[in-house]
Amino acid sequence: MIIAKTIAELQEAKKSLRQAQGTRGSIGFVPTMGALHQGHLSLLQQARKENAHLIVSIFVNPTQFLEGEDLDAYPRRDEADKKICERSGVDILFMPDIDSMYEKDELCIGAPALRGYVLEGEKRPGHFDGMLQVVMKLLNLSSASKAYFGKKDAQQLALVSQMVKNYFMDVEIIPCDIVRDENGLALSSRNVYLDAQQKQRALALSRSLKQATKMVMSGELNVETIKKEMRHVLDEVDEVEYVAIVDRAFNDLKEVEIGNSIILVAAWVGKPRLIDNLWI
Ligand code: PAJ
Repeated sequence: MIIAKTIAELQEAKKSLRQAQGTRGSIGFVPTMGALHQGHLSLLQQARKENAHLIVSIFVNPTQFLEGEDLDAYPRRDEADKKICERSGVDILFMPDIDSMYEKDELCIGAPALRGYVLEGEKRPGHFDGMLQVVMKLLNLSSASKAYFGKKDAQQLALVSQMVKNYFMDVEIIPCDIVRDENGLALSSRNVYLDAQQKQRALALSRSLKQATKMVMSGELNVETIKKEMRHVLDEVDEVEYVAIVDRAFNDLKEVEIGNSIILVAAWVGKPRLIDNLWI
């Protein structure tokens, strides 16, 4: 595995990869912010299977954190992450510093006015601008033909897909299923902030989604009725930020459309803000 810390090192590594293997096989790419867990690993594994080459990036991108968010406290585990990548068959691990990625007075792309400013975008205004900015850079740098994103960050996935479509970028975005622990808690780098008791209370998020599925399965499609019931289940969290049921393009729905809906929840439990969702 080659570890590239600068743009020049990355370009050199891509060249040597192609030469060494004597192939122009496809490049799969998985962008991450590190502190890798089983959720990231599932993306790595799928990308490894589907491509001749695998590039992973670890970059805690400052432009997608808002003032007062956990940028400085964001978990960093570089050495452990390197080992995980090595073992997962990563060819190039790209770990740039901030100066390699940004210059002053940049040209910026922005999240779309509607979809980019509801739910996560409403609670974290500007977050998606920064996310899209860095994902655009990383996708271009990787020269990947396929890039892998988790459904865990459903709105991120939708906006990245929209960016690729709107800017005619030559890369396929592959959505990957949410990985959960044995109790149903969606894995997240921020789960390290939870103590045992909070972890227990955090299960309310996935439980509320299960409850919603149960209602849909038994024929209840009214969005307000389902959301009300979900809020009961979410009693145990410290604060519910939103419960939403939208179509796959993030438009509001009055009735669940089976095969075209996403049920989402965001809530605070102790220190971290947790998100989870279910595609129905
Ligand atoms: P990060 O939170 O590190 O997540 C990297 C990728 O892993 C994302 O596509 C995310 O959806 C996926 N992922 C995280 N937890 C998952 C889980 N439990 N199951 C399945 N996939 C999971 O998302 C980011 O980083 C950043 O915004 C990034 C795209 C790298 C841009 O900075």
